[in-house]
Amino acid sequence: MAPHLIDNHGRVVNYLRLAVTDRCNLRCFYCMPEEGITYLPKAELMTYEEMVRIVRIMAGLGVDKVRITGGEPFVRTDIVAFMYHLRDIPGIKQLNLTTNGTLTYRYIDDLVKLGVKTVNLSLDTLDKDRFFQVTRRDEYGKVMQTFHALLERGIQVKINMVVMQGINTEDIIPMAQLAAQYPVDVRFIEEMPFNGAGDHHQQWEWNFMKIIDTLRSAYPALEKLPDPPHSTSMNYSAPGLQGRLGIIAAYTRSFCGTCNRLRLTPQGQLKTCLYDNGVFNIKDLLRNGATDEQVRDAIVNAVSHRSRDGHEAEQNRLGLPVNESMSTIGG
Ligand code: GTP
Ligand code: 5AD
Ligand code: SF4
Repeated sequence: MAPHLIDNHGRVVNYLRLAVTDRCNLRCFYCMPEEGITYLPKAELMTYEEMVRIVRIMAGLGVDKVRITGGEPFVRTDIVAFMYHLRDIPGIKQLNLTTNGTLTYRYIDDLVKLGVKTVNLSLDTLDKDRFFQVTRRDEYGKVMQTFHALLERGIQVKINMVVMQGINTEDIIPMAQLAAQYPVDVRFIEEMPFNGAGDHHQQWEWNFMKIIDTLRSAYPALEKLPDPPHSTSMNYSAPGLQGRLGIIAAYTRSFCGTCNRLRLTPQGQLKTCLYDNGVFNIKDLLRNGATDEQVRDAIVNAVSHRSRDGHEAEQNRLGLPVNESMSTIGG
């Protein structure tokens, strides 16, 4: 039987979210400040060799799904060659990608060859001007080019829309209509304060319930679908839709009970919850000469001391506010 990493709450942990860079060519409002970002020096980033070694060790512990995130993964040189190495690690069954779509188009043939079945594409509006307002860059055309090309090549697309109060809530229904026009899933995400500055809202209204109510006003026959195991999204279908509508209660944290995720930040910090502030640095362990066995033991130990949910993980930050940029975590 394949090995299993099981946490102290009985949850199987088999999914690694690997943030390969903290750099991004966009400046999304919900993720980074417009100016004044200091990127990590190259020497502090995990090398590809280090990441391959860590994933190999994790695969030996039962991790079988890896999602490449960032920053924007395609900003890092030679990322595609790295993905081929990851794919070839015994035990890795699923390689997924979350991207902003601006640089992705020219790599789509590679994604097909790599066997990437699903790409999660960040897109927060279908209005070109609002796209500029949200991302502070004029790249809407490139994202849409990627979107259409992914569909043409048979790669499943999940659109991630962060719902930002006062900014793009009018876009919820037009975005949902994408799932009528195309066979894509559109997921509406509660905004979290991981933006490099902290909470954007004195009073935050746009939680998952308000998003569902808004969708129901346009699609009264919205029907809840069964949740796949470990799903972050609550999924719905409606007559006339080819794809599903999903709501990710990322801030409310309603899906922690089935959480199967580990995270590695670009500088090698292991996170056993999105909301924790890092458990230990695996890169430092490797650079200090640890053996595979020592690294494995450190991972097993971290997984056996996991917070029950994102609220507990946040409390355990001991006053350190949740305000780091998502580009340093990978979402
Ligand atoms: P799949 O379920 O594999 O399609 O992907 P995903 O939803 O886990 O990944 P994606 O990178 O598309 O993330 C979508 C949104 O969900 C982002 O805003 C993430 O920050 C959020 N998210 C993903 N995993 C977690 C998690 O473990 N906890 C919380 N609170 N949010 C998460
Ligand atoms: N709140 C919610 N989701 C966010 N993402 C990035 N920053 C935030 C935030 N502050 C989402 C992006 C991307 C995914 C990895 O994380 O939409 O698709
Ligand atoms: Fe898992 Fe933490 Fe996210 Fe909850 S908030 S699903 S425990 S990573």
